[in-house]
Amino acid sequence: ALVPTGELVAEAVAGGRGLPAFNVITLEHVEAVVAGAERAGGAVVLQVSENAVRYRLGRLGPLAAAARSAAVAAGVPVGLHLDHVTDAELLRQAADEGFGSVMYDGAKLPYEANLAATCEAVLWAHGHGLWVEAELGEVGGKDGAAPLGPHAPGARTDPGEAAAFVAASGVDGLAVAVGSSHAMTSRTAALDHGLLGRLRDAAGVPLVLHGSSGVPDEEVRAAVRGGITKVNVGTALNVALTAAVRERLGAEPGLVDARGYLGAGREAMAEVVERLTRVVAGAGEG
Ligand code: G3H
Ligand code: ZN
Repeated sequence: ALVPTGELVAEAVAGGRGLPAFNVITLEHVEAVVAGAERAGGAVVLQVSENAVRYRLGRLGPLAAAARSAAVAAGVPVGLHLDHVTDAELLRQAADEGFGSVMYDGAKLPYEANLAATCEAVLWAHGHGLWVEAELGEVGGKDGAAPLGPHAPGARTDPGEAAAFVAASGVDGLAVAVGSSHAMTSRTAALDHGLLGRLRDAAGVPLVLHGSSGVPDEEVRAAVRGGITKVNVGTALNVALTAAVRERLGAEPGLVDARGYLGAGREAMAEVVERLTRVVAGAGEG
């Protein structure tokens, strides 16, 4: 069933669980996320990034329609989220497409500019009933030092800034930099759990972990116990998809039916989704 993301986040917080959110690029990604979530019996978020829209020839509609129809038919609660958006026009399409939440990504901007742009996004999104996530990670770059990207391994979110940013912007969730990094193909990231605890206490809103593909299962569990609610995963699906397709084509050089290799890729992604949904949704157990 399609459920507003805000409700899924609130239920996860109340239950001491995490909420996994998977980035989708193709129809196979969408189908794999729903299949994996159903096998695990947990709620998930299907998220479409601005980059994915760019890949889909600049159109949100087709992928959004696929995600929406898969969510409606799913046997588990599924939310729809627009991820890493900087384009205000794309943000405005989210409500029309049935999305329950958006992430406005001003993390590359200086603090004041990020805050101003985020405030504008929050004003609009709340006016349309959407849950809003923003990001604050640019703690490098102060005192004239070269800015670290918000997901550079050394970048960290400052708890004092996080508290001020949330209070001033009214965001519903905050993506924080605590040691994870986007697009990692090995699961070797070590998180700063002490900082995470301080951010949880300071921010006062559910926190979001980006770049979770590079984080080992035990670290993900600890992060959810320590204050992370939404766990964003993208690259891990592409790693599984690509390995399965490569394996299938290598094993059968005469294969030309796309279903032969895309189906193998879809199944490989579903297995990742099932495992991570159990890890994230079960993190508070035991
Ligand atoms: O917003 C999306 C996530 O941060 C995905 O990161 O591709 O490194 O798992 P990842
Ligand atoms: Zn991200």
